[in-house]
Amino acid sequence: MGQFATGVAVIAIQSESGAISAMTINSLVSVSLDPMLVSWNLQNASSQYAAYAEAERFSFSILAGGQQALARRYAARGDSALMLEDFEDGVGGLPMIRGALAHLACRRFAVHSAGDHTLILGEVTDMAQAAPGELPLVFFGGRFGALAG
Ligand SMILES: Cc1cc2nc3c(=O)[nH]c(=O)nc-3n(C[C@H](O)[C@H](O)[C@H](O)COP(=O)(O)O)c2cc1C
Repeated sequence: MGQFATGVAVIAIQSESGAISAMTINSLVSVSLDPMLVSWNLQNASSQYAAYAEAERFSFSILAGGQQALARRYAARGDSALMLEDFEDGVGGLPMIRGALAHLACRRFAVHSAGDHTLILGEVTDMAQAAPGELPLVFFGGRFGALAG
């Protein structure tokens, strides 16, 4: 699957006390238009497995080409590297990455066991195209790259 180029997104969740957790992912997939569903896969070995698997609401920020450093930051284990200034109050009142191409707010729709990952479906409740015309960050062959303009 390393030969399948994907975009890169950051999923973010917020606890009842307001603490934000965020993780870089490339498993975001469009699943259904009616209802509007997307899915992503969560590693069962994640140090934050329970928080992501049990979150009733979550957001996706689809990263722009210039956000590679941010993608690396949110691929670090745990949340020690989290920088609040990376986030803004996005659509649906959820934390989302500032300067991302697009924002999706989701409500958990279904959770399925899938080998050493867990497949999580989210129903999209709000969305915004945050930076129209900008090019995406791309992941291919284990490396980040950019689309040629
Ligand atoms: C480009 C890229 C894509 C990733 N996609 C996923 C993914 O879809 N699902 C996932 O669980 N982890 C994915 N990861 C790994 C997580 O970002 C990272 O391993 C995780 O946040 C590690 O910390 P944790 O154990 O605290 O969760 C990806 C990492 C990178 C660099």
